[in-house]
Order: sequence, then C-alpha cells, then structure tokens
Amino acid sequence: MTLQRAKAVIDRDFEISQVDPRIYGGFIEHMGRCVYGGIYDLEHGQADKLGFRNDVKQMVKDLRMPIIRYPGGNFVSGFNWEDSVGPRDQRPIRMDAAWKSLESNQVGLHEFAQWAEQVDSTVMMAANLGTRGVAEAAQLLEYCNVRGGTSFSELRKAHGQAEPYGFKVWCLGNEMDGPWQICHKSAAEYGALAREAGKVMKRIDPSIELVACGSSSNNLPTYPEWDATVLDACYDVADYLSVHMYLSQKEKDLPAYLASPLKMDDYLRSIIATCDYVKAKKRSAKTMYLSFDEWNAVPSTWKGNDAEPWITAPALCEGSFTMADTVVFGGMLITLLKHSDRVRIACLAQLVNIFGAVMTDQDGRAWKQSIYYPLLQASAYGRGTALHVSIHSPKVAVEGVGDVPLVDAVAVLDEETGRLAVFAINRSLTDTLPLEQELRGFGGYKTGEQVSLANNDPQAVNTVEAPDVLVPGASTPLTVADNKLRALLPPLSWNVLLLDQ
Ligand code: AHR
Repeated sequence: MTLQRAKAVIDRDFEISQVDPRIYGGFIEHMGRCVYGGIYDLEHGQADKLGFRNDVKQMVKDLRMPIIRYPGGNFVSGFNWEDSVGPRDQRPIRMDAAWKSLESNQVGLHEFAQWAEQVDSTVMMAANLGTRGVAEAAQLLEYCNVRGGTSFSELRKAHGQAEPYGFKVWCLGNEMDGPWQICHKSAAEYGALAREAGKVMKRIDPSIELVACGSSSNNLPTYPEWDATVLDACYDVADYLSVHMYLSQKEKDLPAYLASPLKMDDYLRSIIATCDYVKAKKRSAKTMYLSFDEWNAVPSTWKGNDAEPWITAPALCEGSFTMADTVVFGGMLITLLKHSDRVRIACLAQLVNIFGAVMTDQDGRAWKQSIYYPLLQASAYGRGTALHVSIHSPKVAVEGVGDVPLVDAVAVLDEETGRLAVFAINRSLTDTLPLEQELRGFGGYKTGEQVSLANNDPQAVNTVEAPDVLVPGASTPLTVADNKLRALLPPLSWNVLLLDQ
C-alpha cells in the first residue's frame, strides 16, 4: 500500500484578505447557565464586587476576543432593556419566554459593559425587533451612545455611567426568519422593520454599524429567498448580513460529520452570491459583509434539553466536545479564515456553558473544553493577511457528500513580525498524513514549530474531572529545506505550524 501524503503550495501572492480580528469574537446570551452560574456567581469565592467570576474572566480574556455579542440570541426578542438598568434591587424578575426561564436582571447592560471591558473586549449590542420595534431600539441606542442632554442619555448618567458607551456594532434583532423566534416575521415584514429601525438608529448615531438578520440556517425553506428579500429592503442601512451555523453529528455518521465544514463553505458561497445579486440588482457600489455571529460544532455528547421550566439558569445546551467535534470546529475556523474577505465578524456561540468553550460546574469549578484551544491559537496567530493554501490532499469517499479531502488548511502571515502560521486539520481516523508545503515568495524561513491537538479516539472529551485529555501537545521542531516545509499531521487532528523569520 502506498503511503498517503498531501502536498500544498503557499504563495505570498495568494492573498485572501487582511483578517478582521473581530472574527475571533464571542457570544454571551441570557440563556441557561451562560450568565447566571457562568460568568456571574455572586456566591463564588472568585466573584468580584459585581458578582463576576475572576477565574472565568481570565479564561475569556486569554482568548483576546475583540467583540462579544449580547444579550441574545432568542432571548433578545422578548427583552425589555429598561428592566436591566437602574438600581439592582429594584429590577423586575421577568418570565423569559424564549427559554422558559426566569430572568432576574441582576446582570444588566451596565454590568455586562463592565465585564466586557475587564476581558478587554467590546459589546456587540442586539436590539429587540421581536416584541418591540423602532422606538425602543432608538431609545436604547440613545441611552447607550448619546453623550447627554436628552432623556435617555441623562437616565444613563443618573444610573452612574457619565460617558456614553459608544457601542459600535448593533444587531437588528435575531434570527427573525425562525418560526421559533418570538414575533417571527416574514422576510418582507422584517426587511421593512430593519430598514426603518436602521434609518432612525443611524440618524441618532451615524458612527454605528448595523447587522441585519440573514437566514439562521440554510436548511430553512425560506433560505436564500429570505436573504434576498431582506437585503432588497435594507441594503442601504445594513453593513453586515448575519449568518448562523451549528454543525452536529447526525446519528452515527462520523465521516459525514467530519466533512461537514464543507457545508459551511457552501453556505458562505451561496450567501455571498445572494448579497452580490442584490448589490447588482441595486446597481450599488457597496459590498455587503457578513457577520457570522453564531457558529460552533455541537458537542456530540449533548443529550438535548429537558430542564425544568421557569427556574433561573437551567442547564441548557451543555455537553463535552469530543475529538471529532474539535476537528469539525477546526474546520469551521479554517473556513471562516478562507472567507475573511467577506466575513468581518464572527462570534463563537456561545462562550460559557451553552456549547461553551469555557465551562463551570455547580461546585464552582471552571474548566476548558477542547475547542477552547484552536480558538486561542487562531486568535493568537491568525492576525494579519490570510493566504490561500492550494492543497492536493488524499480524499475519502463519504456517502451522501462525495469525495472529501482529508486535509484542509489556511495560512495567515503577520506582516509585522514575518511569522507565518498554517492552520490544518487531518480528518483521517487512522492515518498520519505527511504534508509537504512549497513556500513561494517568502524567503528566509528556516525553522519553525508544530503544535497539534490530536487523539485517536473520536469520542475522547475533556471533563471537569479530567480537563486535560484534549489539549495541544508539546511543540515539535519543523525544518524548511529547499523552500519546502514538511510536517506530519496525526490522525484526527488540529494543527498549528509556525514559521518565524
Ligand atoms: O445559541 C443558542 C441559540 O441558537 C440562540 O439564542 C439562537 O439565536 C440560536 O437559535
């Protein structure tokens, strides 16, 4: 049997785009144990004076997320922002109909803004276009971003925040195409509402950027007509179209699951085509960018939600990510970078507990899921210019999908330091794959290092008792000879190859 190997070319001229660091963003929703019992726990030994856990904060901070979406998600479509400001002891307990949970409002707009600042991030704020409309979105913006001299800006000051928050990016609702959404709308209804809300909001603060709801899944029957209709209505005021995708393993079909980031690639191609169709139809000079503001693999160990309704912080959408999930996650990260010319914002959904990269348990412990590490590494080494990697990879025939390349990769060049990072996955369940990469147009690379996160068992997971099963291994040296970089990609692995000048 001949040894399978992959070959690739990385050329300095294969530029995709300057990577917008906001693609390493996150998402915190008032849902399940993401906020209460996740980032916030007044009783915890590590709680700060507001009740936020310092240990969780540090884990989030290390991810260097430039932007974090808040407060939802489905939650936002029933959210009254006024409930979440003002003296904490006077805030109402509300019934959150999105998740059938109780919302105490003890963490509100001001507290979250402080938390975001402490983790060196910024808030991507969402306005409720479900139960509420243009007036409330405009009032919330006035409260947050207007310096003073108006009713809502003065209210903010009275609540202790003299300076405006200046939140730059605003979501015009959430997943309004989904029948599950509170006050779900037709594309025409939502498009008109987004346009009018956006028009008023940009008059109040012309410096903001707006994200319109695109299709929340390419499986919905309204996709992609929804996107075309919505954009037709609000192309002029929107700066981004929102896209969401969660990839999960259907039954026992592991090879198809490992190949599923290709679906994300397909989704992006068709949504970009839809944006450009509307651009052409409108004879517009403006390019619509994408905000991939919910993305993740779904932990294969997730059993579904059977939490008791109408309690505070039920355990929803929790599970441990397996090695297979981690490879899928890595494939999704690579796909985002491959489309970094159009994807300007992306938010891991979600950051804590809900399919979280960071987990907390009822005993007050905090630990990192396997997906934490690829995100950490991409955020650390994936800033600069994304470069296309032209790959000839061995393929595997996957039923219902076709021939799937075992290796996928993308590179990012940090122009300032000259460091070249290659992110690569190996989907093979059994084979280590040699990867030979010809480097063109760089010059000067002699040595480097490789760090891999790998495990032969696709079902291996991190748990609170054993949080170090799926962690990056030790760094191994790499050499470049005749402009060729040779690496070995272990079976079922996420790999980072780093070359320094
Ligand atoms: O992230 C969990 C939920 O998934 C979000 O609230 C919603 O927008 C999506 O359907």
